[in-house]
Order: sequence, then C-alpha cells, then structure tokens
Amino acid sequence: MSNSPFSLQGKVALVCGLANRESIAFGCAQALHQAGARVVVTHMPGAERFVQDLTGDLGDAELMPCDVQDDAQLAALFAHIASQYERLDVVVHSIAYAPPEDLRGRLVDASRGGFLMAMDISCHSFLRMARLAEPLMPTGGTLLNMSYLGAERVVENYALMGPVKAALESMTRYMAAELGPQGIRVHAVSPGPIRTRASSGLKDFDTLADTSEARAPLRRLATVQDVGNAAVYLASSAGAATTGSVHYIDAGDNILY
Ligand SMILES: NC(=O)c1ccc[n+]([C@@H]2O[C@H](COP(=O)([O-])OP(=O)(O)OC[C@H]3O[C@@H](n4cnc5c(N)ncnc54)[C@H](O)[C@@H]3O)[C@@H](O)[C@H]2O)c1
Repeated sequence: MSNSPFSLQGKVALVCGLANRESIAFGCAQALHQAGARVVVTHMPGAERFVQDLTGDLGDAELMPCDVQDDAQLAALFAHIASQYERLDVVVHSIAYAPPEDLRGRLVDASRGGFLMAMDISCHSFLRMARLAEPLMPTGGTLLNMSYLGAERVVENYALMGPVKAALESMTRYMAAELGPQGIRVHAVSPGPIRTRASSGLKDFDTLADTSEARAPLRRLATVQDVGNAAVYLASSAGAATTGSVHYIDAGDNILY
C-alpha cells in the first residue's frame, strides 16, 4: 500500500465528530486508518462511554473530547497534536448542530440564537480548525468538511441547515484559494442521506432516505465507508491536483432534477 497513491502511511489525521459506529466520522477514521494514517478522533465531552469501544476498529486511534464552541478545548486539541506528532496532514470536520426547535421549523421562523449557533458549530468551527491546523501543515495538507445537497437545492425539511451548508461550501472555495499556494487543499464532501444520530433529528428523514435510495441512479444509499474512502482519495496524493470542490458521495442522486 505504501507505494500506492492512496497510501497515507506516515500521515497524521484528525477526525472530528464521532458519536457512534453510525457516524460519518467513524467511516472516515476507519478508512484513513486502513490507508495507513495515525488517527486522532474527537467526540463531545461526556460521550466517552459511547465511543471508547470503537477505537479497536480505528487502529487504537487516540480519542479526545472537544466541544468546538469551547476555544480552550479546541486549542488544547491542536496543542496536543503538535506536542505528540509535530505535524498534521488531514483534518475531517464531521460536525453539525442546530437547536431542534429551529431545525424542525420553517427557515423563516428560525431564531437569531438558533441560526447563529448552527452557523458557529457547523460552519465557523471549520475556519477555527483550519487556523489551528495551518502551522502544523508547513508542507501542505488536506481539510475536509461534510456538506449536503440541501446547500444548493431546496430539500424538504432541511430548512435551516440549507444556508448553513451553503456557507460551508462557499467557505470551502475561499479557503481553497487562500491556502492553495501553501499546498493545503480544502474540500467539501457531500454525502447522500445516511441514517445517523444527526440525521434522525431532521423531520421525516426516513422518507428522504427511502426516496433517495429508490431514485438514485445506483439505487442505493451511500454508507459511511463510502464517505471514508472518498476522504482517503481526497487526502492522499491520488487527490493531489484537486481542491475547492464539492464531492458528491450519494449514488448519483445529485444529478437528478
Ligand atoms: N447523515 C447524513 O445523512 C448526512 C448527509 C450529508 C452530510 N452530513 C453531515 O455529516 C456530518 C456528520 O454527521 P453524521 O450524520 O455523521 O451524524 P453524527 O450525529 O454521527 O455526527 C455529528 C457530530 O457532531 C457533533 N457535534 C455537535 N455539536 C458539537 C460541538 N459543539 N462540538 C463538537 N462536536 C459537536 C456530535 O457530537 C456528533 O459527533 C454533519 O456535518 C452532517 O451535517 C450528514
């Protein structure tokens, strides 16, 4: 594998947003580990008991608590990576949140506080991570986030998260332009519907998933492993000539009108 352009041997990857085995973060951490990377995985403080049994499948990945709204926790995470590994090659931001009352209502009715919170956790935290990762990537690296088709189309019940993901995708392009000269590549991955804890908070998510599965050209849903494999491609030298794009991992659902 080490001669393969998809190898991440000797690389250090940070994957943020592990809640359980169904998490997209789990699929990403597993695939990055299988490609040879040493992996550090974050979870919400207090969620240790849900995630500690998963590390065996992640090459004994190091687990660290991190609430991205807490600047001190974020700083401590990157300080730990700097002292332990002296480098960072890959960051996967797999985090989103909106208060349930705002998430399940109309966008027009979204509260100011709920909107700002969703933006802060799901979007601005990616910038904060990039800023902390930059000094650890002197010869380049890859920053990935998770978006969704609702960023560019009106998807029923996606409401508040639509503009949040649209901002995330736009940020991805601006960050790619700013960081590209340093060899830091930035991408949004856009998975189709996957049954996870976060997606269960969306109204009628099962209908969205069933519809996508029935109509997508490949007649299936993407899995967290599919998303992880895409992360390996984007983060490895196989993806060396790519930056600033949105990669759909959705069995082709996005091409349909
Ligand atoms: N599941 C889907 O259908 C789907 C589709 C497209 C994009 N996504 C995106 O994928 C990403 C991961 O979601 P998932 O579906 O794997 O669900 P998940 O619930 O497994 O992961 C979401 C993670 O966000 C974390 N999080 C929330 N607030 C946080 C905070 N303040 N600080 C740190 N972490 C926080 C949660 O603890 C959780 O680990 C999200 O950005 C989501 O919008 C999901």
